[in-house]
Order: sequence, then C-alpha cells, then structure tokens
Amino acid sequence: MTGAAPAWRLRVHDELASTQDGVLAAALEGEPEGLAILARRQVAGRGTQGRHWRSPPGNLYLSFLLRPEGLARELPQWSLLMAVALADALAPLLPDPSRLRLKWPNDLLLDGAKCAGILTQGTPGEDGGIGWLACGIGVNLAEAPVLPDRPTASLRQAGLVPPEPVAFAWSLLAALDRWRELQGRQGFAPVRLAWMARGPAQGSRLRLNRPEGILEGTYEGLSPEGRLLLRTGTSLQAISSGEIVPVPLPTAG
Ligand code: BTN
Repeated sequence: MTGAAPAWRLRVHDELASTQDGVLAAALEGEPEGLAILARRQVAGRGTQGRHWRSPPGNLYLSFLLRPEGLARELPQWSLLMAVALADALAPLLPDPSRLRLKWPNDLLLDGAKCAGILTQGTPGEDGGIGWLACGIGVNLAEAPVLPDRPTASLRQAGLVPPEPVAFAWSLLAALDRWRELQGRQGFAPVRLAWMARGPAQGSRLRLNRPEGILEGTYEGLSPEGRLLLRTGTSLQAISSGEIVPVPLPTAG
C-alpha cells in the first residue's frame, strides 16, 4: 500500500440527494483523486447494506474520491484506515477519548452507540490494482437520527460541543492524509495497531451476521492483512465480510 496525500478539492452544498452520487460520477469519468463533496443535509443518504442514512442538518455528510496505489485485495485495509483517521479526528473533541470505540469493520461508537458510519464503494482496476474508491462518511455531530435496530449517539447528545461540519471535514481530511502518509512509509501495520487499540476488547464475544449464517466466537484481533480474527472452538477464522450484531443475553433458568 502506498500513496501520497492528494490536494483536496472540497465542494460544499446546502442540500444533495447523496454526496456519494457526485463522487461516483467523477470516479467513472476519470476525475483525479482528491475531489471531496460535503452536503449540509442529504435527502437520500445511503448507508451500508442498502439502508437509508437519515441526514438532518448539523451533521457531517462527506464523500471523497481516492485512487490509491496498491492491490485490490488490500481494499479492506483502506476501510480500516478511514475508521482510524475518523477516530483520530473525533478524539480531540472528547474530554475522555476512550468513550470512542471502533466496531468492525468501520463503525464508530460513542458510549457504545453508533455515532458515525463509513460507506466505501470501489471498483478494482483491470491490472489487479485498487482502481478507485468512493468513500462516504456520516458523523452525528449535532443530531442522532433514530435507527430501528441499534442505539445512536451524537456529540451534542453526549454533552459535547459539536464542531461546524466544514471545519470538521477539513480536520478529517488532514487526519486521513497523515494516516495515508504513514501507511505509505510503513505499510498496514500501524493502521492495524491503531484500529485494535480502539477496537473491541481482546477476548470479547462477537456475533457476526454473514450470508452463510450467524457466526459467534471470541475476538482475537485483526490479521496482518486486516481480517477479523474470530476463534470458534479450536479453529481461528480470518473473516473479511459480515456485520457485527449484538450477542443475545443469556436467558435465566
Ligand atoms: C453506514 O451505514 O454505517 C454508512 C453510512 C454512510 C453515510 C455517509 S453520509 C455521506 C455519504 N453519503 C451517503 O449517502 N452516504 C455516506
């Protein structure tokens, strides 16, 4: 994985359907990396798994285009890098940064509730490289839209002063530049360590929803390639896709 930081070209809109649209179109048109689009609100924001991402004013809605060097199989590492950069941009805003945790692969939790999500869309290049990456980040700065299936948090609800979205976008892009530069010099190892430092506690139980079915096991960190290591009985599985869901509480009696 290599890559010098792009010179960001940030376009700010009052309202868009989704900031992903402009970045996806630019990717397909061959626009150089570094385009970033911010909307103060979205009317058709998209989340992972085809979910709607409710997007009231006051939060961050940012998408950007990257054309990183590296191999297509390294794509999941970029997603983890985005999460680490986002955590770095948010941490200085919190009196106690340990309230912020990463949920695999790239959700951010504040006091255990979802406060940010990352959507990465990309197409591998024909040469086995990454091609392009359209990364969309939503952060609940001022509002925490209610989700049907999980608790949500915002910086304001947590008693913190929310930053202005454009100012926060710039600090996020700067954090991304720093991580990209470090990864260019030292590879994925520092990103992996930083992710694990903010990730689940080693040895905690995780339950994963995958197309093949539910898999539950003990978390043992990330593999050097960025896969989730889950021990189930005597086997250690390295997992590259799936969604973490709550482990059911044991029933009494
Ligand atoms: C998730 O489901 O956790 C990912 C949410 C990603 C939301 C962001 S907001 C900016 C960009 N535009 C979108 O429509 N989605 C992403």
